[in-house]
Amino acid sequence: MLRTVVCVSGGGTNLQAIIDAVEAGKVTNVELVGVISNNRNVKSLERARNHGIPDICISPKDFENRDLFNEAFLAKVKELKPDLIVLAGFLVTIPPAMVKEYGNRIINIHPSLIPSFCGVGYYGLKVHEKALERGVKVTGATVHFVNDGMDEGPIIAQKAVCVEDGDTPEVLQKRVMEQAEWIILPQAIDDFANGRITVADGKVVRK
Ligand code: GRF
Repeated sequence: MLRTVVCVSGGGTNLQAIIDAVEAGKVTNVELVGVISNNRNVKSLERARNHGIPDICISPKDFENRDLFNEAFLAKVKELKPDLIVLAGFLVTIPPAMVKEYGNRIINIHPSLIPSFCGVGYYGLKVHEKALERGVKVTGATVHFVNDGMDEGPIIAQKAVCVEDGDTPEVLQKRVMEQAEWIILPQAIDDFANGRITVADGKVVRK
């Protein structure tokens, strides 16, 4: 069983999709060993507790500086002995030491078709605001491995979603979640857990 830790900052609907897929047997060979959030009052931690998954809160605000937080964060993660770390709407930058320690074992979901609308400043609703501002007709979501760059790691999966007339950022965000994120993130975890994907020359290869 692949020991899997999920890191979240917000409501955790992606986390819920992962939990549901594991419980329904759609994602196999995965044990959810912990949910980590930087925000104590988020629904995500409640979702974890409701399903008997250990919930952990660790926030940069509780540390004197970023280096001390990074050290403590990595130590917490290590305690859980993960084989896979899933960033499901996690708004904290992953410390370089953690990327080094867990190379090609950290995956992230991003709510656009990378390389569009990604990188510094593109998170949460802002991604959808920018897509609507630009007038794109198709957007979507991407699951990728995490490397030292911002949204630059090898792409595991992408799914396109249509933009419709009259969309607001909120409406588009919901459609991207329902039609893409909640589908491709659990699928990517299942692919990883069952040895169907690997990284070669900086690209994801399906076996
Ligand atoms: C998702 O859109 C995710 O792609 C983005 O933040 C949002 C998190 O939503 N990075 P939730 O907490 O999973 O509901």
